[in-house]
Amino acid sequence: MDLERLTTRAAEIAERESADLLTRTPASKALFERAVKSLPSGVASNFQVGDPYPVYLEKGRGSSVWDVDGTEYKDFHGGFGVNIVGHAHPKIVEALEKAAREAIHFAVTTPTTVALAEAICERFELEQVRIVNSGTEATMDALRVARAATGRDKVVKMEGSYHGHHDSLLFSVVPEADVLGLRHDVDHEGKAWYTTQPTSKGIPRALWDTTIVVPFNDAGAVEQALADNEGEVAAVILEPVMMNVGIIEPQAGYLQALREACEKHGVVLIYDEVKCGGTIAYGGTMERYGVKPHLSAFAKAIGGGSTIGAFGGENRFMEWVTKGAAQQGTFNGNPLSSAAGLAALTQVLTPDSYDHLKKLGSMLAEGCDRAIADAGIPAHTVDLGAKGCVSYRGERLTNYRDFLETHTELYWASYPWMVNRGIFMTPGDEEQWTISVQHTEDDVQRYIDAFGEFCQALIA
Ligand SMILES: Cc1ncc(COP(=O)(O)O)c(C=O)c1O
Repeated sequence: MDLERLTTRAAEIAERESADLLTRTPASKALFERAVKSLPSGVASNFQVGDPYPVYLEKGRGSSVWDVDGTEYKDFHGGFGVNIVGHAHPKIVEALEKAAREAIHFAVTTPTTVALAEAICERFELEQVRIVNSGTEATMDALRVARAATGRDKVVKMEGSYHGHHDSLLFSVVPEADVLGLRHDVDHEGKAWYTTQPTSKGIPRALWDTTIVVPFNDAGAVEQALADNEGEVAAVILEPVMMNVGIIEPQAGYLQALREACEKHGVVLIYDEVKCGGTIAYGGTMERYGVKPHLSAFAKAIGGGSTIGAFGGENRFMEWVTKGAAQQGTFNGNPLSSAAGLAALTQVLTPDSYDHLKKLGSMLAEGCDRAIADAGIPAHTVDLGAKGCVSYRGERLTNYRDFLETHTELYWASYPWMVNRGIFMTPGDEEQWTISVQHTEDDVQRYIDAFGEFCQALIA
């Protein structure tokens, strides 16, 4: 099928299905009209905005969620990758109930917090860890430690990576193709040029000069950036698997080359495992790809649904928190989050639970791949344990600029189509599915069936 016809068809589906979604969600509309008076855009975070309003949820149980109209969906949104324990898991509920009766908050470290730190260190092969409250705090603190340890200011990040909303790294997260304006340009040395674009208003101008942006999967670009800024770069930070552009895996040898470049230039290698830690394998990136960073940041899935983050790694860097690098927080390691995190990591997300997640993930990816092949649409799937996605581009992606070539119209048609058929999806083409330990083969089959019908509708 020619692309123009496919795009037109996708636009028709998006229009019809979006209209259906609005007629099915009157209670969300009413809540939005109330919410917008006290919350800008009617939501607590810009990532929760909907057009014209979001589907508001009020209950989750097992692999299902219910919206405020009482409609049940199978949850493949997973709270942006948090809920791999599923909803209301008995072990998590029990741990939270016990904590609520005994210790909601002290701002004093408890035995549960210590046990959680031990569980995180064991699982992710860290020497030491500090517990924080979000992924943003985890990458912010890891970067501060790297700056303290090296006495340097600059940081290298990948174009298209999101590391939370603190100032230092909020650059070139989703630069539009026209802002880049340079996709096919080359500089005088024949290398594609990467600029540092702020992703938010309100970022101090001075920080633009401390953040160097390079393409993912290009170790040569990192080596060049470190050589060009010799003695000035504190850290290279990356998602070892890029997960805010669909999913892009590191190519063979890439992570090892980064580790070697960092060692050579005295730079701290930081993995942002906020999305992949605890989802792509029991031991996250280390287990899957085998290359160790100096420091890592975690959040999301390690908290069993509670508010959490953590960062850790080698003692020689972590000790800087005792030597003047400010690392603190009233709620750090609070008993409620620690109890939920500990139950998740030690009782629910056990090594064998990853066999279940792997089996379901592969079933989902293979089912979607079959539907894509049957319809002949330009797309492919990525399958990584509890995480996976459909990317609307025939060839796999290697970096952010490939992501700009995906056919976003197809995604925007799929979103309301799937939600209208009881599959709760992430509202954004950069996101992925998340499967939980409470999902079943029937749940996955439901996704595959709805997606298969969508692919056929695209070519009808
Ligand atoms: C890779 C990555 N790092 C950091 C963050 C920030 O985490 P949080 O939203 O918990 O602050 C996110 C959030 O989506 C993320 O995907």
